[in-house]
Amino acid sequence: MSTRKKIALIGAGNIGGELAALCARKELGDIVLFDIPAKADFAKGKALDLEQNSSVIGYDAKITGSSDWKDCAGADVVIVTAGIPRKPGQSRDDLVATNLPIIRSVAAGVKEHCPDAFVIVISNPLDAMVYELKRATGLPRERVVGMAGVLDSARFQLFLAREANVSIKDVRAMVLGGHGDDMVPVLSATTINGVAATELIAREKLDAIIARTRTGGGEIVKLMGTSAYYAPASAAVAMAEAFLLDQKRLLPSAVYLDGEYGYKDLFMGVPVIIGGRGVEKILEIKLTDDEKVMLAKSAKSVQGITDVVKATPAS
Ligand code: APR
Repeated sequence: MSTRKKIALIGAGNIGGELAALCARKELGDIVLFDIPAKADFAKGKALDLEQNSSVIGYDAKITGSSDWKDCAGADVVIVTAGIPRKPGQSRDDLVATNLPIIRSVAAGVKEHCPDAFVIVISNPLDAMVYELKRATGLPRERVVGMAGVLDSARFQLFLAREANVSIKDVRAMVLGGHGDDMVPVLSATTINGVAATELIAREKLDAIIARTRTGGGEIVKLMGTSAYYAPASAAVAMAEAFLLDQKRLLPSAVYLDGEYGYKDLFMGVPVIIGGRGVEKILEIKLTDDEKVMLAKSAKSVQGITDVVKATPAS
């Protein structure tokens, strides 16, 4: 038996495939690409393609496709992309009817087969789906996170870098709140290598960048007819890597709030430290009054969709 770490990717679609490719290249562990029985051969084919790729690129990772939860047993990390992505004109919240039963079935699989895993949820509507996964599995909040903030911050950083005409490597930004159109780009924590973004970019340009960041996912859905997958996968792998390698990275992540920032029984994006014990710390950073108002608005939207999920009985 391999002593490598094991990564179970639940959903072998666009994001699942890119997740597998990235985890393999980084040699983070052996990988199981899991999907529903109707897609088992598709998952097996993708896994085989990625294993053959290892002999060109040169990475050591066993990659298997499966529709049997037993193959995910004992996973160290589970990344959930099961569900349908958005189509043009749809909001993330429109996906709840389809994706809620899917997340419930995934939660049952995780609870039975991967109870010790660090679980990262990507399926939308993100904050409500990760809430349900935690509720249904009963996992501790240290081990269930939603991926949104790293992606939304990446989008924000790209637009800032292009506007300021500087390297993407020098832009540091943070987007908090729910993964919806009222997410909160935190300008007070946004710098270009320590220099406040507000010093280098005019206010009206910043406002336009914030607006574009908020609809950044929708912009891609409109262009491609489906949702983004390269940056979402990279963002989730950064979180998985922080856990697997105990990096103690400070990453905006959707976590279960129990009073932090004044919110309770809700998943929402806030800065956290991710290390070998999962979410090791939730950081309560100082926000400006404006940012607090925006966070309250975002929390209200998240609460609304979370309430819908809570009120939906198991079918
Ligand atoms: N268990 C496992 N996999 C499932 C299940 C299930 N119960 N139900 C559906 N799936 C699989 C689908 O068969 C499909 O292969 O999830 C996969 C999703 O892949 P894509 O349709 O390519 O979607 P993707 O772009 O990867 O996005 C997945 O992430 O960002 C979010 O909004 C997006 O909710 C969507 C999710």
